Parts: sequence; structure tokens; C-alpha cells
Amino acid sequence: MRFDIARSGSGLTYEIRHIVAVANKLKDYGVEVEWENIGDPVSKGEKIPDWMKEVLINILQDDLSFAYSPTKGMNETREFLAEQVNQRGKLQISPEDIIFFNGLGDAIARAYSSIRIDARIILPEPTYSTHLLAEVLHASFPPNTYRMNPYSNWYPDIRELEHKVKSHKSIVGILVINPDNPTGFVYPAETLKQIIKIAKEYELFLLFDETYINIIYNNKTTVPLSDVIGDIPGISMKGISKEFPWPGARCGWMEVYNAGKDPIFDNYINTILHQKMSEVCSTTLPQIAIPKIMTHPEYKNYLNERTRHYEKLSNIAYNILKDVPYLTVNRTNGAFYMTAVFNESVMNNRQTLPITQPEIKSYIENLVDDNIEFDKRFVYYLLGSTGICVVPLTSFFTSLQGFRMTLLDKDPDRFEAVIKTIAEKIVEYIDSSNITSSLPLL
Ligand SMILES: Cc1ncc(COP(=O)(O)O)c(C=O)c1O
Repeated sequence: MRFDIARSGSGLTYEIRHIVAVANKLKDYGVEVEWENIGDPVSKGEKIPDWMKEVLINILQDDLSFAYSPTKGMNETREFLAEQVNQRGKLQISPEDIIFFNGLGDAIARAYSSIRIDARIILPEPTYSTHLLAEVLHASFPPNTYRMNPYSNWYPDIRELEHKVKSHKSIVGILVINPDNPTGFVYPAETLKQIIKIAKEYELFLLFDETYINIIYNNKTTVPLSDVIGDIPGISMKGISKEFPWPGARCGWMEVYNAGKDPIFDNYINTILHQKMSEVCSTTLPQIAIPKIMTHPEYKNYLNERTRHYEKLSNIAYNILKDVPYLTVNRTNGAFYMTAVFNESVMNNRQTLPITQPEIKSYIENLVDDNIEFDKRFVYYLLGSTGICVVPLTSFFTSLQGFRMTLLDKDPDRFEAVIKTIAEKIVEYIDSSNITSSLPLL
């Protein structure tokens, strides 16, 4: 090549996927891996019901389901989705306010790359990696964040949010993920109103990722952004990856709220739309399926059954992990992740777990150099020692040490056994450095 052509990256990696390469290597050595890392219900054994498959088979009979769709998405589907918002009676939108993308990952990339590089979105911390990577890539500077507090049931630190918004004039928008990935926090309406008040006072727009808005349990409640936004400009991001669940469809959409009320916001939405136009359109088939699946008589029951299952797993995990020394956990109330935080100062770079197979032991030992984050070191040892694959919490861009796992196992007994193993291994791992350091010096 004439010269170096690769654009320099942000230096950040997508650990949720990165760890898969490590786990696959262990599979080559014969380890049976328990995948607790990625939020894909289907790969964790979710059976797609026959009625849903039949809906898709019927759609496929129409050759137009193989065609391009309009740039913003199928008209009927956008009418259906706009009506869902309008029926709630708090905000009126038109089908033109809805734009489809190839998965929310695509929508997220467009949302940040259409913002001027000196304008920033403040993000929750920890945060779902795709948002953070897209925000940092657009600005080439470290992110602005507000903390989700593990010692207060993962409530966001609203004072910090306001303080940062006030002092960093470059902040133009606030990201909220409700229910949250990775913490499983569900925002009460009151907390959302506090955030919206800040946006109003400092003339910001709201970016709400509502991927999991219909997966809430343990008697918690929330409201969608459209119920509480009032007259502030905002975007709600929604999709079918988790809800149907159909992550392989690569289909998600933006609902633009209060378009036409602020020319600066309208300009921004136009920039997003122009990017989308250059790509023609998004995936057609899943868009056609959305109203047919969501209005199917079985849909509500099916989603409800799945939600009850996540609730059950959330409580199994919480009841075991809450008693583990060295660890802070909160009950997950929405989405299907649980994040555990190691107490301060309990981790170091001397801790290990026994790994019997010599090749695996040396493979893991080669991965854990002195610069590795302590929680990542734990995750690698856990994987090498037990085959259980979780994600280090620091890879969600926080200094909190911990790990995230999923609540997706279809078998509650197997899930309970996995959690019990994790609980035992945490204690064994952390105590391993005490044992070493208490050996008498010869
Ligand atoms: C909060 C959140 N937003 C967006 C996405 C991406 O979803 P999609 O499959 O539609 O790209 C995920 C996937 O895990 C997510 O957890």
C-alpha cells in the first residue's frame, strides 16, 4: 500500500465480543463454555414460537418483502408505530417522525456521527458499549458521564448530571437507557422527570434508548419518554432484537419527538436522514413483520411469559450473590442483565483460580499481564477454571470493578448451578492472594 490507510481507532474495544475469541480458544481445548456474556435470547435457547414463524412465512409469499423499502421505512409500519405513541395521549407524532435503521446499533452510530465534533452527549456510567464507542469516535475525546450508583440501587447521580451539564457547555444532549444495560435499573417516572427538567433548563435534547421498555418485572414501573417529554426535543430508540426476540433481523428505529419546534434539532435530524438516504433503506422484511407480530393475539402472552422467566432468574441470582462477601449486587428489575460490583480494594494482581489443564493454564496466564484490569483478570480466570463466560464491568467504561452476566438461561436449575459456582469462585479467587501473602517467608 502507498501509505497507511487505516483510520486510527479510539483504542477502545468491544469486550462483549472480544471475550468470545478467548472463550472459543478454550472450546478448542475441550472446555464446555457457559455463555453468560451476550444479550441474545435466541442463542441462549429461546424457542421462536410457531405462530411467529408462520407470520414470517406468510410475508415471504409476497415478493415485495424482498424489495427495497422507503428510506425512512415501510409506511404502514411507521403509521402503526406512530399510533402506538399517539394512543397514550401525551404526545402526538406523525409517521414521518419515525426512521428505520439496520438494528439499533446502526441508529446509534448515525445519531452520534451526525453531531458536530465539539458537541457532546453525556452518558450514564457504566454505559452500554455501543453508545460509548460511537460517542467517543465522533468526538475523539474521552466521554462525559454521570454515575449510576451501585450503592444506591443503581440510581443515577442526578446532582452530578446537573453539575456536569452546567459546567460543560459542550454538552448538548443526555443519554438515558431505560431499562438500563448493564445495570438492570428501571427509571421511576419521578427520576425521568428530574432529568427532563435539567434538559429543559439547559436547552438540551434527550436521547432515550428504550430497547427494553417492555421487559420490566419485580413490580417496578416506568413510563416511556413520550409520556413525560413535554415540549423538549428528543429521540426514542426502539427495536425488535430483544423483544421479539429477533436480533439477527437487524431492525430498529428512532421516534423523533417534538420535531418542528426547534430549527437546530430539525437540522440535526435532517443530517441523520441524509446519511440514511445515501444507503437507500433498511431491512424490509422485519419492518413488514412488526405490526403483524405486535398485534398477534399470542404476542402479549409470549412476552409476558418471557418477562416472568427473567424475573425468576433475576431473583435466583440476587438471592445467591447478595450473600457473597466482597460483592455489591442489586436486584435486576428490567432488561436481562445483572451487574455485580467488587468492593473497593479487594482485587489485586496476585489472585488466581486453579486451572487443571496445563495448556489452558498457560493460555490464561499469558493473557493476564500486570496492566490488565483486575476485574478482567478475574473474568479470564473464571473462564479458564470453570468455562463460565461473563463480561468485565470495566469494559462498560467505568472504574468500578465487577462483571455483567445475562439472565437468559432457559433452564433455571442450570442457571442456579452457574450462579452458585460464580459465587464460590469469587470467594476462592479473592482469598487466594490472602493465602499466598500469609505464607511464612522462608
Ligand atoms: C441498550 C441497548 N441498545 C441497543 C442495542 C443494540 O440493539 P440492536 O440489536 O438493535 O443493534 C443493545 C443490544 O444489546 C442494547 O442493549
